[in-house]
Amino acid sequence: MGKNSTFNILFLGDIIGRPGRLLVAKYVTEQLASSQPPDLVIANVENAAHGYGVTSKVMHELQTAGVGVFSGGNHTFDKKEIFEIMDRYPTLLRPANYPPGTPGRGTCVVDINGFKFGFLNLLGRVFMEPLQSPFHTADELLPGLISECDAVMVDMHAEATAEKVAMGMYLDGRVAAVVGTHTHVQTADERILQNGTAYITDVGCCGPVNSVIGMDPKTVFRRMVQQLPTRLSIASGPAQLNGVRIEIDRETKKATSITRVMVNDDAFVASDEED
Ligand SMILES: [Fe+2]
Ligand SMILES: [Fe+2]
Repeated sequence: MGKNSTFNILFLGDIIGRPGRLLVAKYVTEQLASSQPPDLVIANVENAAHGYGVTSKVMHELQTAGVGVFSGGNHTFDKKEIFEIMDRYPTLLRPANYPPGTPGRGTCVVDINGFKFGFLNLLGRVFMEPLQSPFHTADELLPGLISECDAVMVDMHAEATAEKVAMGMYLDGRVAAVVGTHTHVQTADERILQNGTAYITDVGCCGPVNSVIGMDPKTVFRRMVQQLPTRLSIASGPAQLNGVRIEIDRETKKATSITRVMVNDDAFVASDEED
C-alpha cells in the first residue's frame, strides 16, 4: 500500500508516566523519520503525567515528539492545571459525553495536507462514571463531523469489552475506525468490520511492563491483597509500547488495514518522582 494512496494513522494506547513517554518519544521520532512515516500520530494521554492526567511539561514533550491529537478518558481531569492546558492545545480532548458545560472538547478536526481528519473521544458507562450515553453522544456529534471531514475516528475509552464491541458495531460503516482504550492490555481482535470500519477492543498502553497495568505491584498489592486504601504509584523499569497502525484509502475514505504494534524497550527508567 503506497503511502500516497492511503492516509496512515499511528494510534498509541494510554501513555503511562515517564517510562511510557520516553519510549513514545523515541518510537514516534523514529517512525516519522522512516520511509513510511504516519501522516498523523494520535495518543491517549490520560495517564501521561505520573499516571494521572497531563501537565504542561508533558504536553510540550509529547507535541515536540510528533503527537498531533491527544485523546483522553476518566483521568483527563486529574491535574488542576488541565483547564488552562486545554485552552492552549485545541487537539487535547476529553470524552465528549460529559455533561453540558464541562470545560474542554470531545472532538477535533485536523487538516493534514488537505486531508481533513475528525476525531471523537467517548467514555464508556459500564463499571465507570454514569455519563450521558456514548451511543447517543456519537449519534449527536458524528453527522456534523462526518460531513466536515474526509475520515473520522473514534476512541471509545471504556472498561467493558462488550460496550466497546457494541460501539464498533454501532458505528461500523459510519466512521473509518473505532479503537478502544482504558484497560491498558492490548487485545488481539483487530479487524475491518463488515461495513469497512477498522476496529480493536483495546489498543493497550505505553508504559512500564513489570507492573499492574502500569502501576507498581507493591502499591497494588497493598490495595488489592490487604484491601487498604492506597495511593498507587507508577512502576519503574523497562517499558512496552502498544499501538495500532490504520490505513485509510484516500479515495473511498474507508479503512483498508489495521495492524497491531508492540515494541519493547530494555532501558531502565526510574519513575519515582512526580512530573
Ligand atoms: Fe488509562
Ligand atoms: Fe482510563
